[in-house]
Amino acid sequence: MSVQSPETIAPHGGTLVNRIASSEQRAEILARADSLPRVTLDARAQSDLEMIAIGGFSPITGFMGQADYLSVVTDMHLSDGNVWSIPVVLPVTEAIADSLSIGQTIGLQDATGRLLGTMELSEKFTPDKEKEAFYVYRTKEEKHPGVKVIYEQGNVNLAGPVTLLQRDPHPLFPSYQVDPAASRAAFTEKGWETVVGFQTRNPIHRAHEYIQKCALEIVDGLFLHPLVGATKKDDIPADVRMQCYEIMMQHYFPQDRVILAINPSAMRYAGPREAIFHALIRKNYGCTHFIVGRDHAGVGDYYGTYDAQHIFDEFQPDELGIIPLKFEHAFFCKKTGTMATSKTSPSGPEDRVHLSGTKVRALLRDGKTPPPEFSRPEVAQLLAEVMSAREA
Ligand code: ADX
Repeated sequence: MSVQSPETIAPHGGTLVNRIASSEQRAEILARADSLPRVTLDARAQSDLEMIAIGGFSPITGFMGQADYLSVVTDMHLSDGNVWSIPVVLPVTEAIADSLSIGQTIGLQDATGRLLGTMELSEKFTPDKEKEAFYVYRTKEEKHPGVKVIYEQGNVNLAGPVTLLQRDPHPLFPSYQVDPAASRAAFTEKGWETVVGFQTRNPIHRAHEYIQKCALEIVDGLFLHPLVGATKKDDIPADVRMQCYEIMMQHYFPQDRVILAINPSAMRYAGPREAIFHALIRKNYGCTHFIVGRDHAGVGDYYGTYDAQHIFDEFQPDELGIIPLKFEHAFFCKKTGTMATSKTSPSGPEDRVHLSGTKVRALLRDGKTPPPEFSRPEVAQLLAEVMSAREA
């Protein structure tokens, strides 16, 4: 069986954004570098700058102004009508905002003072943080990790188009840095007409593998696209996860049908809203399909198990331009000895093995290996070794 491919895999908004400075622009920026007022970006803003520049956030070309911000928060569309579900903003303190003037070119730097890029400051505005939290995260509670970030940020958002000074190789995973233009070229070269994107912030467990392989049965290729930007402290660090993905690639996937590449974005934990965001990002990377399983991008009990699937029904298929592949909660079924969901398993709850992230983390902290029904043994072994050593 094969899924019919869309006519085109256009980037979101129609054009793949490229905001990486040309060599002339770069020389020009560097010549002015010492005289530019500077704003220091945190890890999330740095990855947002990177994603905008490489086209991962097409059609966005800079940090959002108030019209886009409000429209995204309340209506999940940019003011130009394109679907967009998560604000991409640059919050600073009032003191910093007051020191800057509209029309100025701002130098964007990291915490060490290294110049990363520039922004043409077009607007400063005050976000409504509680409203943003409630609409985007469906809660105003500060203990939600995404909401916490909003509340802790400065009270003024700076807006304007950005330019990335240069595309540096990723410090940890340079060989997996495949930007949207390159992934699109790779899919074409492989002759893949249909490609399913997979978002993850976890090591790949049996349930992930199962839904990926179900998807691979109906599309040409899998774009295994783990998020390596900022995550919450108790998530498994990206360097450990990458080793797990390499193991999966080496032992458990048909290598000619899977491309492993990093997604530099930061995690928001916005559940349904983030599922849309994640899908649009993968569309920009050239995917035609996107996997949405149980509690996608969720945290705690904030979202219903399938809320992140239901939200796709709020849009017309052509305004999304990428097809969600929705999977039920997968588990190991002891009765049949296979991975399954309630759609395919005859067993009752007593025969179903599924472990919560919290339980797995507790096992790993104690140096215990998660069972083979949950994780491939090589991955389980590596996680137990590395995570218990790091906890010590
Ligand atoms: S996420 O925050 O990046 O979504 P995670 O890495 O756990 O978290 O999930 C990656 C994808 O796999 C998501 O689409 C998620 O819904 C799906 N998923 C995770 N576990 C399961 C499971 N047991 N059954 C079905 N889908 C799952």
